[in-house]
Amino acid sequence: MSATVLCTLDLPDPFSGIVESVARLRSLGRLPAHDELCDELRRDPVDVLCPQLRDRVDAEVLDAGLPRMRCVSVYAVGYDNVDVAAATERGIVVGNTPGVLTDATADCAMALLLAAARRIREGDEELRAGRFHGWEPTYLLGLELRDALLGIVGFGRIGQAVARRALGFGMRIAYFDSTAPPVDESLRAHVTRVGFDELVRDADVISLHVPLSQDTRHLVGEAVLRRMKRTAVLVNTSRGAVVDEAALVRALREGWIAAAGLDVYEREPELSPGLAQCSTAVLAPHLGSATVTTRAAMAELCAHNAVDALSGTVPRNCVNPQAWGERAPASLLSGG
Ligand code: GLV
Ligand code: GLV
Repeated sequence: MSATVLCTLDLPDPFSGIVESVARLRSLGRLPAHDELCDELRRDPVDVLCPQLRDRVDAEVLDAGLPRMRCVSVYAVGYDNVDVAAATERGIVVGNTPGVLTDATADCAMALLLAAARRIREGDEELRAGRFHGWEPTYLLGLELRDALLGIVGFGRIGQAVARRALGFGMRIAYFDSTAPPVDESLRAHVTRVGFDELVRDADVISLHVPLSQDTRHLVGEAVLRRMKRTAVLVNTSRGAVVDEAALVRALREGWIAAAGLDVYEREPELSPGLAQCSTAVLAPHLGSATVTTRAAMAELCAHNAVDALSGTVPRNCVNPQAWGERAPASLLSGG
């Protein structure tokens, strides 16, 4: 019985090279329905499952993988699709890919921030529709970034990388984070920690960088959107459900806020009714980590997490090392 790794969608190089040097790699080459994934795991058991963020890995999937499955190595930094508590109870470690996608995701947040604040998407539409009649003094005026207050919600790696970029544009930075993460030395003198309500009230731009959890689902709903400045811009590159999307559509339609730049949606790939018609929304199709370099680095990390688990070592990026407690499973690799 050779060590076996299953991925749902094929992952980019160097994923297969790393995994195949020590184990059998099987790929479904498609996103299975929930029941199909369970059937697949029962029919042909594997040691490590490498899902991506659209595969829901709940207790039923984990049970289908037992007794053999020891690790779920997610090809993403966000792992809200995995029931981590259920994995821990079952002695299954969960790996993810933080760090390597920080800059790409922060770049994406800045792209959305700039496009929304400076009305680039509206302008693009005007131009293509033949409605641009030449330069005019008050045509498509947007938000000046210099001295504008950027409120960052969630001040982990990505939130801090956005702060670093925004400082280059002369923005002032406030952040809210319920977990008081360590703030990088280079930023400390330039950022202010504030309460959530204060951030919502004062920010000219709000950018979301929290993981999706019970606590953050619909963090930005009607009440928050109504308390934001009418000139404010909302940017979301985290998870769609952190925002109540139906409320956001009303906010954009009725002008409670000025604009939004979104990379993630509540029910991807679907958009809430009316969102596509909101001219002040800049919409990207979940491209945060979508650069050639970053996707390769994620593939490498995802593969190493899997190989670590096969060798009986807690994956180098593990969100629940306690799942193995004192007793890591034996190595499945020859010579390991
Ligand atoms: C992408 O959204 C990720 O979590 O990596
Ligand atoms: C993700 O990598 C984060 O900590 O923001």
